[in-house]
Amino acid sequence: ISAHLTIDPHFVVGPINRRLFGSFVEHLGRCVYDGIYEPEHAEADKEGFRRDVIALVKELGVSTIRYPGGNFLSGYRWEDGVGPREKRPRRLDLAWHSTETNEIGLDEFASWLEKVDSELMYAVNLGTRGVQDALDVLEYANIRSGSTFSDQRIANGAVEPYAIRMWCLGNEMDGPWQLGHGSPEEYGQLAVKTARAMRQLDSTLELVVCGSSNAQMPLFANWERVVLEATYDEVDYISCHAYYEPHDGDYASFLASAVNMDRFIDSVVATADHVKAVRGSKKTINVSFDEWNVWYHSRYAEVDRITGIDDWPVAPRLLEDAYSVADAVVVGSLLISLLRHADRVTSASLAQLVNVIAPIMTEPGGPAWRQTTFFPFALTSQLARGVTLELKLESPTYDTVLHGEVSVVDAVATHDAGTGDTAVFMVNRSLTEAVELAVDVSNLGQVAVVDARTLHDDDIHAKNTLDDPERVGLAPNTSHSIEDGRLRITLPPVSWTAVRLH
Ligand code: AHR
Repeated sequence: ISAHLTIDPHFVVGPINRRLFGSFVEHLGRCVYDGIYEPEHAEADKEGFRRDVIALVKELGVSTIRYPGGNFLSGYRWEDGVGPREKRPRRLDLAWHSTETNEIGLDEFASWLEKVDSELMYAVNLGTRGVQDALDVLEYANIRSGSTFSDQRIANGAVEPYAIRMWCLGNEMDGPWQLGHGSPEEYGQLAVKTARAMRQLDSTLELVVCGSSNAQMPLFANWERVVLEATYDEVDYISCHAYYEPHDGDYASFLASAVNMDRFIDSVVATADHVKAVRGSKKTINVSFDEWNVWYHSRYAEVDRITGIDDWPVAPRLLEDAYSVADAVVVGSLLISLLRHADRVTSASLAQLVNVIAPIMTEPGGPAWRQTTFFPFALTSQLARGVTLELKLESPTYDTVLHGEVSVVDAVATHDAGTGDTAVFMVNRSLTEAVELAVDVSNLGQVAVVDARTLHDDDIHAKNTLDDPERVGLAPNTSHSIEDGRLRITLPPVSWTAVRLH
């Protein structure tokens, strides 16, 4: 089968914010403990952080990292995690039915972020806490000196303030599973009070208010409307979260998960703009898609969930999904969806980073390795620079149970006027057919293919595991040719491809 694409550098969707390539570290399972931090490991640096993990996080190309949760956040007391380690309390983490030792807190995490070269996106607990605690942690983080909490930070060893710009006002407050969950009216009031107070302390903050936990939530779109009606003037972003998995072996729908993400973003943007119109506001609210990934929820519900009253383990193995080739193709296509919306999605976080639904896995005392999903993220983060271009795509379609009729091929292109580079990211969702893709690149002038790589395997379930950590990777796609302003390339079934043109 064949498909056709036209690229024109004049048709710009919007600039690509580097924050689109963010990730997420939650105190959950082995993400922090036995993940980024393992003091007994041979690779540990003097602060106990694994050097091999730091190297992989840098290779992944992560811009911002959201911290410390997640559902964990809604019962978290930030002050437990600062000051002398021996005095830090052990707490019950109700979200994941675990014990939090508080060995790692804001200061240690900020220090780790410097090592991986990422920006901190910090979340305040609006589940069991509120305005005062948000102000206290903001003072601790961003005030230079001369106040109780800023001086505490200095005494704890961090002389310079952290100057954290992005702050999330709680987490998934629309979800009945969330500690402190309530109605959108209740949350909207708490969020606006917190936002106003935080801005009084630091007017330069960028604030993210909680949208829906997924587009299937019963209050979806109404939640966003009510919350934004209360908070519109005080916040900058509304969050979206979405996780995808195959249901009952329906890979046709699963491979088209980005269609759901596209519609989700379009609906949230429409809702935010509706509130803008009603208010006659000049300000535009953008989307922070600060949790997205493939996640085998069903596995968590059936296998992982801890419930016993006497069972509160430290850093248990939770949500350690092993990702397949098909999962990586979906992750690549979700990145295409995010890039396509670069004008309105200006921040996003792959959830999560290490061990917990993560692109990077570790074994205690053992190796760290790249999951299949690592590859599309790393290459997209590396190549997608400048602006997103609007494409003309002609592709055959197929029917899906979950999303209706969808196109077999999906694609996005980016263009960097500074370097003259153009990147094209493509997926072939067909389970059986290769696609012969023709791309009209004549409007780009004289260009050649600098690099073309594809993620594909005859076994769409192939994974990278502890025993076989390099089973799946990217391979050069040698099928391409350019003639008369037309790039031709073959996309194998169930595959993700990136091409760099110059
Ligand atoms: O990322 C795992 C969990 O998914 C987060 O803690 C929560 O915010 C979401 O439901």
